[in-house]
Amino acid sequence: MKVPVMAKPMRAVILASGDGSNAEAIVLWARANPGRVEVRAILTDNPQAGVIQRAERLGIPCICICFPEKEMFPDGFMARKRAHENAVAQAVEDLGGEWLLLAGYMRILSGEFLSRFAHAPGGYYRVVNIHPSLLPEYPGKDALRRAFNDGAERSGITVHLVDEGVDSGPVVVQESFPRLPDDDFAAFAARGRQIEHRLFGQALAKLTDFQITKELYEHQHGDH
Ligand code: GRF
Repeated sequence: MKVPVMAKPMRAVILASGDGSNAEAIVLWARANPGRVEVRAILTDNPQAGVIQRAERLGIPCICICFPEKEMFPDGFMARKRAHENAVAQAVEDLGGEWLLLAGYMRILSGEFLSRFAHAPGGYYRVVNIHPSLLPEYPGKDALRRAFNDGAERSGITVHLVDEGVDSGPVVVQESFPRLPDDDFAAFAARGRQIEHRLFGQALAKLTDFQITKELYEHQHGDH
């Protein structure tokens, strides 16, 4: 059975920690492609994040859930992380979010947290991430900078489904870009950002009418 689009829009919450240019690109893509992705809200862990002003300008609800202070959890980092993740998961649930779109969210999500978004068949979590490298090359922080410093002749952008690893999980879309002879880091990074701003939309287009969606549809409707 071929299902051209999802039976209902993907209800999503965007998680972002920084400037939020990718979050904005996602919101604009969702508006330009109605019926595919419903952005319920943007959630940030950073009260200084530029994404807060962007959300306001876009008219999208934005909530901030800060990582708890050390003093509140003398039991250590893991207790703080668990408390933060529980609060985030609860907020997403309250917002009616079924999918998480990670757009520069600077926290590694635990397996326990991810399992709350574990509906998709095939073992996928309903969590999508964008990363500035040609994964599996350069996972982790400062990926573009590390590629540049290594003298890489090209880098790329990847949108992938999230698993328990760091920047691992099945690739949805990936696009490479070259390093040109006169590039300084700013020029190299700017080339990557241009791609980023359309690649998440491309991934969402694929996720909302591709094989994964077909499986989800059949799962939801018991149509085997
Ligand atoms: C992007 O480079 C994204 O690939 C990475 O974090 C950055 C976020 O930028 N994961 P912005 O906040 O969306 O402008």
